[in-house]
Amino acid sequence: MKDVIIACDFSSREDLFEFLKSFEGHDPYLKIGIELFYAEGPKMVKELKEKGFKIFLDLKLHDIPNTVKKAMVNLGKLGVDITNVHASGGIVMMKAAKEGLLEGAKLAGYEAPLLIAVTQLTSTDQAMLERELCIHEQMSDVVYKYAENAKLAGLDGVVCSPFEASAVEDLGLISVTPGIRLVGDDDGDQKRVTTPKTAKLLGSSFIVVGRSITQARDPLAAYLECKAQFI
Ligand code: C5P
Repeated sequence: MKDVIIACDFSSREDLFEFLKSFEGHDPYLKIGIELFYAEGPKMVKELKEKGFKIFLDLKLHDIPNTVKKAMVNLGKLGVDITNVHASGGIVMMKAAKEGLLEGAKLAGYEAPLLIAVTQLTSTDQAMLERELCIHEQMSDVVYKYAENAKLAGLDGVVCSPFEASAVEDLGLISVTPGIRLVGDDDGDQKRVTTPKTAKLLGSSFIVVGRSITQARDPLAAYLECKAQFI
């Protein structure tokens, strides 16, 4: 279970399908986030599935357990391959999410999807954790505790940095790791970046690559380079 997931941070279906034109015959794993999902909805996810793409639907659900469960039934019916929740919703919410997701996938005749948890957003730093979220623990301890909670809830993995992949693997969880750059690319707003090759050495299960592929002069060549380094 190792793959390169392209972060499709586009604002419309047209832009996404224009981008995918050069990927004919390759069927890459795609990450669809809230920007595109809120613009185009479940219909576009179904369309991509019918075209043979694997989908990580990055919606980061966080609500009361009953509501999350019902929403997850609907995401399971779409045939998504990976989706996610915020671990801060708690163990009961994560368990409910998993139940709903499996129920939806089963109803629609799809294989069991993977459910992963976001521990702490990379936009949250130690000062914000303490002053705004009122959590007075070290960030690394909070991330590890949330990953343990995800495991207890029966989730499959977490979103983390490649640098945390091996600790996550020790918990028996898969790691889905953004913050990847091909050598020479601009780091942009990412703080701790690695190449696909380093992510492989650090033990990432999946790498999520956005701008290094989507903004490349030759996106297919960049994607194939990521695959060659990582798999
Ligand atoms: O363009 P880039 O490769 O930096 O994109 C990374 C993708 O992974 C984006 O879609 C971003 O929202 C997502 N992501 C992240 N860091 C996290 C969680 C998700 O960069 N902790």
